[in-house]
Amino acid sequence: MIVFENATKKYGSRTVLDRVNCEIGGGEFVSVVGPSGAGKTTFVNLLTGAIHPTEGSVSVDNYEINNLDEISRALYLRKVGVIFQDYKLLPKKTVFENIAFALEVCGDPSSLIKKRVDEVIGIVGLTHRRNAFPSQLSGGECQRTALARALVHEPALIIGDEPTGNLDPQSGAEIIDLLLDINKAGATVILATHDRETVDRIKKRVIRIERGKLVSDLQAGKYHLEK
Ligand SMILES: Nc1ncnc2c1ncn2[C@@H]1O[C@H](COP(=O)(O)OP(=O)(O)O)[C@@H](O)[C@H]1O
Ligand SMILES: [Mg+2]
Repeated sequence: MIVFENATKKYGSRTVLDRVNCEIGGGEFVSVVGPSGAGKTTFVNLLTGAIHPTEGSVSVDNYEINNLDEISRALYLRKVGVIFQDYKLLPKKTVFENIAFALEVCGDPSSLIKKRVDEVIGIVGLTHRRNAFPSQLSGGECQRTALARALVHEPALIIGDEPTGNLDPQSGAEIIDLLLDINKAGATVILATHDRETVDRIKKRVIRIERGKLVSDLQAGKYHLEK
């Protein structure tokens, strides 16, 4: 269970997220929508602990993210998988190596790494591109690689920050379908996007942020009424 309690983020005197309150249960799929600059990235960055609230709190399973000690924070982050608009792949590593790297830094044995990496490569449908470098991949394949890397620790929470932003509609839809599958398998998914068509197709809960304020929070199927 994720709880935002009066979560506020200010940069200097500028408030970019203003007393946001919401609860997200385990296993939910929530789209976070709003125009560019609304505060979507700020919202998801509070969840990864990349930034800290100026006031209020963000907690996951009763742990306040910003009060975790170093070890707890590392353990928490292993349970969170994040994908971004620009993939953030290492250019000199292959698909396999990009994903394996996430496990190598944790010191897992190489036999286990190979098994798990090939497993997630299969889930995202990239087995035939396993040894390709990012420069040889399409945008959709890059994002599927990033998604596989995000999945490698079997995270309970997957966060996407505009993951379809650089993709053609078909590749974007494939990423969303994978996220829906992952959600069906039990993971909580939080998807920040300004793409209305994507959100309409998902048919799940939608939180709308405008100018730093949470302005609506609608359960599945209700979103179209608000247009
Ligand atoms: N490090 C920062 N310093 C100052 N302002 C920032 C910083 N990061 C984001 N902002 C501002 O916060 C607002 C919300 O940004 P963001 O959360 O990235 O919006 P979105 O993801 O919805 O496009 C924007 O006006 C942005 O300029
Ligand atoms: Mg953003």
